[in-house]
Amino acid sequence: MRSKIVAGNWKMNNDCKQTKSLVKGIKKTIKKLSLENTRVLVAPTFVNLSAAAKRAIKSKIEVVAQNMHQASNGAFTGEISADMLKSIDIKTVIIGHSERRSIFGETDELLAKKVNTAIEKELEVIFCFGEQLEDRKSDNHFNVVKNQLEKGLFHLESIAWNHIVLAYEPVWAIGTGETASPEQAQEMHAFIRNLLEEKYNTSVADTTSILYGGSVKPSNAKEIFSKEDVDGGLIGGASLKAEDFVEIIKAI
Ligand code: 13P
Repeated sequence: MRSKIVAGNWKMNNDCKQTKSLVKGIKKTIKKLSLENTRVLVAPTFVNLSAAAKRAIKSKIEVVAQNMHQASNGAFTGEISADMLKSIDIKTVIIGHSERRSIFGETDELLAKKVNTAIEKELEVIFCFGEQLEDRKSDNHFNVVKNQLEKGLFHLESIAWNHIVLAYEPVWAIGTGETASPEQAQEMHAFIRNLLEEKYNTSVADTTSILYGGSVKPSNAKEIFSKEDVDGGLIGGASLKAEDFVEIIKAI
């Protein structure tokens, strides 16, 4: 059975004090929830990972990283390696977020290298991908997504898929308030699961969690999460307020 996951991507928000208080707020409320087969993840910025992890002790909250460099170590000023993350007990890393792709120029080829390093280092990867608005308007969204998966992940052996979570985030829905409809999300997630079946096997297709991201909020989470192939969400803006994030967790 695949896990349900609600993950908050805090992006470049929250200083140390705000980070601690947000973790504390989420921890307090989710204590009362029965979260069977459901994982709750938060991704603070690098400098606040340790502070967040300390506050998350004895809770269901897993603290994860937003990015990492593909090299093991070396002269890469400003970068963070997989070993550094592991040394502070981080077990999961987001790779390929659309902001990394579009603002920081991360290509499919580079992302494949990052994925390889993360898998070699036994980190779990939340791999993000999704089409631009013009791709959807020109009915090219399935091709774009297939291409991103082929280039970023389909070189992996099936065994590596134990460490992969997919996050479909249509770029036009990120931070815009415009959400893919539950039907659009389901259609794409079913397409992705089908690709996994074709490329790998039923087991990989059935056990890989596929999250939806893009303007998920308390008011729309339940409907999106109710779709068969949507296993949870990667939440940006709405994960910055404990009450909203917890409402989204409840929706799952
Ligand atoms: P929003 O929820 O703010 O649209 O962001 C989604 C996202 O980018 C999560 O990674």
